[in-house]
Amino acid sequence: MTRSPHEPSGEPNPFRALALDRLRCRTSVKWRAYPDDVLPMWVAEMDVPLAEPVVRALTDALALGDTGYPAGTGYAEALAGFADKRWGWDGLAVERTAIVPDVMLGVVEMLKLVTGPGDSVVVNSPVYPPFYQFVEHMDRRVLEAPLGMDLRIDLDALEEMFRQATAGGRRAAFLLCSPHNPTGTLHTSDELAAVAALAERHGVRVVADEIHAPITAGGAEFVPYLSVPGAESGLSLMSASKAWNLAGLKAALAIAGPAAAADLARLPEEVSHGPSHLGVIAHTAALRDGSSWLDALLSALDDNRRLLADLLAEHLPAITYRPGEATYLAWLDCRALDLGGGADPADVFLRRGRVALSSGIPFGTGGAGHVRLNLATSPELIREGVRRMATALDRDGTGEGPGP
Ligand SMILES: Cc1ncc(COP(=O)(O)O)c(C=O)c1O
Repeated sequence: MTRSPHEPSGEPNPFRALALDRLRCRTSVKWRAYPDDVLPMWVAEMDVPLAEPVVRALTDALALGDTGYPAGTGYAEALAGFADKRWGWDGLAVERTAIVPDVMLGVVEMLKLVTGPGDSVVVNSPVYPPFYQFVEHMDRRVLEAPLGMDLRIDLDALEEMFRQATAGGRRAAFLLCSPHNPTGTLHTSDELAAVAALAERHGVRVVADEIHAPITAGGAEFVPYLSVPGAESGLSLMSASKAWNLAGLKAALAIAGPAAAADLARLPEEVSHGPSHLGVIAHTAALRDGSSWLDALLSALDDNRRLLADLLAEHLPAITYRPGEATYLAWLDCRALDLGGGADPADVFLRRGRVALSSGIPFGTGGAGHVRLNLATSPELIREGVRRMATALDRDGTGEGPGP
């Protein structure tokens, strides 16, 4: 590491820029999936304006009519520079990268390179629901190796699933979520090296989804999977999409370790037709020139994590929240709430509190009784979200319950 990700950057808190009435004018799914009396705190979109360097790059491209097809390796070069400065990793070789339309389609393409129909893909549940949907849609079987009670990778469970996945000599992959969505777990270099050793021992190929990599808490260090010893045959997907809120500007990068270069070289050429040229321009500008903006974001997220922990302790003490060291997502254990009849807490909070959180159920084993709350918003809306959650638990249903 050559610099702390949390140096004061002099940029304003990006969560304070857009008031609720402006956010409600947005047409993206976060703001359109529910009626206007619902406060949306679910899907991983952020309530921020775009970083200025991104706006400038896009505006220049539009003024020039530079809206054709993407070309060149600028995105990979920008990511390599960012990885070096931010994570002290100089091993991202531009010649071992490929642009892909987005991270999930990149995951699908990487899994196609290293497994075949009917093979197994191991995941650490609870995990980002599309890991199940995309993998099953491509005719692979999902095997769950649940996280441990400490929300960290359980190496024994992982090894057992690697054994089952490769039984009979089948090919298999491990779809690693690093950092982990929804828990915000930041895997250590020792844990990642242990994963690499297990994968090597069992002949399992690792595909790491590292989309949340730039978003770490309180100066904690992200470790790229491909930087750890023994991970040479791994594949990674990275993108500026989460950290700079660019999901609508489609582009991501697939990166191969040295021993996976030949696999990545088999990626069909047409996959590179999927990313949008404007997406590539935006992601490149974010990684190259968007570090001060990111620093302001990370420092605001640190405040938001603390605020949420304080509010929950005061108003909803039965909910357990262990702030993660990464992502802008909060994983809330609501199993101690007395909801009766095995109700899904997300459903109760939505119906009675008019606040939309992600239900834990689609996150797989370990998800029931949990909700995921999106912290990438203003402190005012976090307060309002918790107030609505508290109101939902007000037993007489009047909405007159105590609140922050
Ligand atoms: C772990 C993870 N992977 C992938 C994605 C989606 O990325 P993309 O839109 O680039 O497919 C998300 C979005 O929240 C995510 O959390």
